[in-house]
This record gives sequence, C-alpha cells and structure tokens, in this order.
Amino acid sequence: MKILKKAPRPFSLCFVFVFWLWPALALAIDNSACLDCHNDEGLTRENTHGGHGNGSLFVDGIKFNHSVHHINGILCVDCHADIEELDFDKDVPHKKELAKVACASCHDAEAVAFTNSVHTKISSKGITMTCYACHDYHYTTHLAAASVADRENNFCAKCHNPYQGHDWLPKKEEHFAFVECTVCHAPEVPRHIHLKFFDLVTNKFYKGEDILKILGIRYDQFMPLVDTNKDGTIGKDEFEIFELMLRQKNVHAIFHAELVAEMAPGAHQVNRGVAERNCEKCHTADSAYFDAVTIVLTKEDGSVDHHQVDRSVLASYSLRHFYIYAGTRVKLLDLIGIILVGGGLCGVLGHLTIRIVTIPLRRKKDN
Ligand code: HEC
Ligand code: HEC
Ligand code: HEC
Ligand code: HEC
Ligand code: HEC
Ligand code: HEC
Ligand code: HEC
Repeated sequence: MKILKKAPRPFSLCFVFVFWLWPALALAIDNSACLDCHNDEGLTRENTHGGHGNGSLFVDGIKFNHSVHHINGILCVDCHADIEELDFDKDVPHKKELAKVACASCHDAEAVAFTNSVHTKISSKGITMTCYACHDYHYTTHLAAASVADRENNFCAKCHNPYQGHDWLPKKEEHFAFVECTVCHAPEVPRHIHLKFFDLVTNKFYKGEDILKILGIRYDQFMPLVDTNKDGTIGKDEFEIFELMLRQKNVHAIFHAELVAEMAPGAHQVNRGVAERNCEKCHTADSAYFDAVTIVLTKEDGSVDHHQVDRSVLASYSLRHFYIYAGTRVKLLDLIGIILVGGGLCGVLGHLTIRIVTIPLRRKKDN
C-alpha cells in the first residue's frame, strides 16, 4: 500500500486571508491529493464495505478526467462529501468507512423520477438498485450522442434480454436496433430522431465531429454554413445542399435514423404494463414520435448539441433503412397505413434502385 506523508500546510497570513474571504477555496481538497494514493492500481481496502466487490480502491485518473463530472468541475470531495480534511499522520488519512455517495444530492429530479419506477419498487423484494447499476460513477460520460446499441448495452441489456419477451412485436431485431428501450418503456420521456452519417462507399459511420473535420470548419461554423436562411432549422433544401457539400468532399453520406430518448429525468420512469405497444403511434406519417429530428455534434468539452432538422427529410431517399411516408413494402404495415422503402439497403446500387423505384412516390408526395 502506498502511503504518503505530507507536512501540514504553513499557516501563513495569506492563508488566513483566503480562508476568511473564500472558505470554499480553503476547504476544497484537490483531486491530485486523492489520486496520489488512489491512482495506484495496487491499493486495496481492508474492510469489505461499499463499492464494487473486489476490494480495489484504484481510480483511473485519466479516465476520471474524461468524465462528465470532472468536465463540469465536480471534485472527488463533492461526491465523497464526508471527507473534510486529510490527516496524513494516519495510514488512512480519512475515515475508513465513508458514507455512500448520494447522487440525488445533485440530481434531484432524476432521483424523484427513479423513485416512481419498477426498479425502485423491487426494493420490496430486497433488491436495491443504485443509480450506478446503469450509470457509471467515476467514469460517467455524456450519452446524448451515443447510438441506440451503446445506450442499450450500457443500460438495460446488462440485465434484460429483450428477445425473451416482446412476442407480440414483429421484426424485433429492427426495433431493438432502431428504437431505444426507454422510448417505449418511459412513457413521459421526450423523444427525437437522431440522424447519423453513414458512408455508402466506405461503409462506416461518421461522428458529428468527423463531419466538421471533413468540412474543415469549427463547431460554431456548422449552423451558419448549413442553415442558410437562418431560421434555426435545417430545411429539406438546405439538407440536400449539405449532402452535396459532403459529396464534394468524397463522403457519400446517407443518413441512418434512430429513435432515441432525450436526456431527461423522465427516462427513469420505467414501469410495468405502461410501455408503448400501439404500432400506429409510430407507424403513421404524422407520428408525434418523429416531430423532432436532429443532427448531433459533440463540442470540444464533450458536451453535445442537437441541431434541428425539418422532419420532411425523413421522407428523403437518402435515409438508410428507414421507412418513409409513401410507398409500401411490408403487408402488415400496409394495413396500418405506413409505407416502407429501403429497409436494409446498403450499397450505392441498392440506393439507386430505390431512388428509381420511388420516383413516382416522391412525385406524388411533392404534389
Ligand atoms: C494517503 C493515502 C490516501 C489518500 C491521500 C486518500 N485515500 Fe482514500 N483510502 C486510502 C486507503 C488506504 C483506503 C482503504 C481503507 C481501508 O482499508 O478500508 C481508502 C479508502 C477510500 C475509500 C473507500 C471508503 C470505504 O468506505 O470503503 C474512498 C471512497 C476514498 N478512500 C476516497 C478518497 C478521496 C475522495 C480522497 C481525497 C479527498 C482520498 N481517498 C485520499 C488511502 C488514501
Ligand atoms: C460523481 C460522484 C463521484 C465522484 C466525482 C467521485 N466518486 Fe468515488 N465513488 C463514487 C461512488 C458512487 C462510489 C461507490 C461507493 C459509494 O456509493 O460510496 C465511489 C467509490 C470510490 C472508491 C471505492 C472504490 C470503488 O471504486 O468502488 C474510491 C477509492 C473512490 N471512490 C475515490 C474517488 C476519487 C479519488 C475521486 C476523485 C478522483 C472520486 N472518487 C470521485 C462517486 C464519486
Ligand atoms: C435502469 C437504469 C437507470 C438507473 C438505475 C438510473 N438511470 Fe439515469 N438514466 C438512464 C437512462 C436510460 C437515461 C437517459 C439516457 C438515454 O436516453 O439513453 C438516464 C439519464 C440520466 C441523466 C442525464 C439526463 C438528465 O436528466 O439530465 C442523469 C443526470 C441521470 N440519469 C442520473 C441518475 C441518477 C441520479 C440515478 C439514481 C437516482 C439514475 N440516473 C439511475 C437510466 C438509468
Ligand atoms: C456534487 C454534485 C454531483 C453529484 C453528487 C453527482 N453528480 Fe452527476 N452531474 C453533476 C453535474 C454538475 C453534471 C453536469 C451537468 C449536467 O449534465 O447536469 C452531472 C452530470 C451527470 C450525468 C449526465 C451525463 C449526460 O449525458 O449529460 C449523469 C448520467 C450523472 N451526472 C450521473 C451521476 C451519478 C450516477 C451520480 C452518483 C454516483 C452523480 N451523477 C452524482 C453533478 C453531480
Ligand atoms: C441492474 C439490473 C437492471 C437494469 C440495468 C435494468 N433493469 Fe429492468 N428490472 C430489473 C429487475 C431486477 C426487475 C424486477 C424483475 C421482477 O420483479 O421480476 C426489473 C424490472 C423491469 C421491468 C418490469 C418487468 C415486468 O416483469 O413487467 C421493465 C419493463 C424493465 N425492468 C425495463 C428496463 C429498462 C427499459 C431498462 C433500461 C433503461 C432496465 N430495465 C434496466 C433489473 C434491471
Ligand atoms: C416498441 C416498443 C418497445 C421497445 C422498443 C422495447 N419494449 Fe420492452 N416491452 C414493450 C411492451 C409493450 C411490453 C409489455 C409489458 C409492459 O407494458 O411493460 C414490454 C415488456 C418488457 C419487459 C417485461 C416482460 C417481458 O415481456 O420480458 C421487459 C423486461 C422489457 N420489455 C425490456 C425491454 C428492453 C430491455 C428493451 C430494449 C432492448 C425493450 N424492452 C424495448 C415495449 C417495448
Ligand atoms: C416506438 C415506435 C414504434 C412502435 C410502437 C412500433 N414500431 Fe415498428 N418500427 C419502428 C422503427 C423506428 C422501425 C425501424 C425503421 C426501419 O427499419 O425502417 C420499425 C420497424 C418496423 C418494421 C420493419 C421495417 C423494415 O424495413 O424491415 C416492421 C415490420 C414494424 N416496425 C412493424 C411494427 C408493428 C406491427 C408494431 C406494433 C405491434 C410496431 N412496429 C410498433 C418504430 C416503432
């Protein structure tokens, strides 16, 4: 075990001055003081209280520095709030048994929503679910730009296998790939369609920030470049010009659309028997689920902005594997009045064929 002894700080006049003027500054213990010991992979606990099983007390300082909490200025002692000072005369410079961290002290709205969920109600069966059963604690990252698959794998799919169940739902694979669990399971969470860039030629996804690099622009130049009429929304024409710009840079983008939940406290209200199963809620041209369509760009600090796109682009031929509002492919959906074009197309040829096949439809739509 690595134990550091440090001399007490000199009690200088300057210190007194700062102490009286700005107590917070004097009290806050710098992360580096904690990491001096805890960044050591060999550090383990003697007691068995708290944390994740194996007794390791290692905190990866570099990973921590990429967390949403560090980026937002949260210190170790903001969460481990019962450490008020470090006494380096002792082997362990703070209490050996620290209080459980209360995420709710900063995330009240999420905690309240979570209290009203099946995951809290199961405590009557003796199961207590912490916030970090889903979220990490030291390495919490922004999720707003994450794909449906990432969100599901990080969260729900850790404990549930959606293929055991949902027998009423056709095309399970498509739904679980394109619709985040909470879109159906958290009835009050706002949703949006998240457009991702997919290159038909290289067969890969681009992140928003890759697109900025390819266009050779900074984050704050994106909307001025694309939203030429400055109404705050990327309209259908503007969207098509944007595609052209990408093509000039050799990116043959089509757009992959996913239906995701917004980052909102309502995502926590998952309950029995309230999930969405009404096909028409989604599979109609005017579905409210598709009101918000956005392109996601990540800023340098890791935070994320959604840029609004007019929902009429959902009917664009350049959307990959997504149904549009005109034309029919699947009998079942025919019945409920939606229209499908282009499920599974993934090559330029397929793309062109679909374009040709859908010309009459697109004409009809434009009328
Ligand atoms: C001098 C080395 C040292 C420093 C500095 C240090 N710790 Fe620790 N810490 C330890 C040791 C050793 C343990 C294990 C105690 C035990 O054996 O149970 C520990 C345990 C912990 C635990 C687990 C407590 C529990 O209830 O199981 C937390 C959390 C923790 N430290 C946070 C911090 C934070 C936050 C800081 C900075 C404010 C910090 N430590 C500074 C050595 C240190
Ligand atoms: C967002 C809140 C948060 C921040 C910030 C935070 N911790 Fe923790 N930490 C937790 C939680 C939650 C646990 C799990 C146990 C518990 O509930 O107290 C934990 C557990 C630990 C443990 C026990 C080992 C483990 O991984 O379970 C150590 C050691 C520790 N923290 C040190 C630190 C240090 C050092 C920092 C700063 C670099 C830090 N923590 C910052 C929330 C936080
Ligand atoms: C069952 C899994 C689960 C648990 C447990 C959970 N969350 Fe979440 N949390 C989510 C999901 C899902 C989202 C939304 C992200 C998304 O749409 O993918 C989210 C988003 C968040 C956000 C960002 C959105 C916002 O409202 O700003 C915060 C903060 C948050 N959770 C805090 C908490 C806290 C605090 C707890 C404990 C009281 C907790 N979470 C417990 C699943 C969970
Ligand atoms: C001392 C205050 C504080 C504590 C305690 C705290 N957080 Fe946070 N948390 C923040 C701040 C500040 C942000 C960044 C601003 C925001 O998104 O709300 C944040 C952001 C988040 C996010 C949002 C990520 C995103 O996608 O925007 C999640 C998830 C989260 N915290 C989970 C937790 C969990 C889980 C715990 C308990 C282990 C916890 N927080 C404890 C202050 C705190
Ligand atoms: C840490 C494990 C864990 C995670 C992560 C988790 N759950 Fe659960 N979930 C449970 C447990 C345990 C139950 C209670 C099962 C029971 O009572 O039989 C449950 C119950 C449920 C139920 C009610 C089941 C029923 O029988 O009707 C639904 C719906 C549900 N979870 C959805 C989700 C969704 C959506 C997510 C992701 C946001 C998620 N869960 C994340 C463990 C988890
Ligand atoms: C298209 C909407 C939809 C999607 C997407 C969806 N579910 Fe469900 N799910 C339902 C409905 C409706 C039920 C029926 C029971 C209810 O209302 O809770 C259900 C039931 C469940 C149950 C409870 C019992 C069972 O049938 O197994 C769990 C657990 C569950 N879903 C987890 C998930 C997870 C995890 C995901 C994401 C991988 C997911 N669901 C995606 C609509 C959906
Ligand atoms: C929460 C919204 C939502 C609900 C509810 C929903 N779906 Fe879907 N469905 C989608 C999305 C998004 C896709 C993926 C789009 C795609 O693959 O083109 C999809 C895909 C499909 C597909 C596959 C399309 C293809 O191209 O292969 C079928 C079939 C389908 N849904 C039928 C249904 C039926 C039947 C119901 C009711 C039992 C239903 N859906 C409920 C959103 C939903």
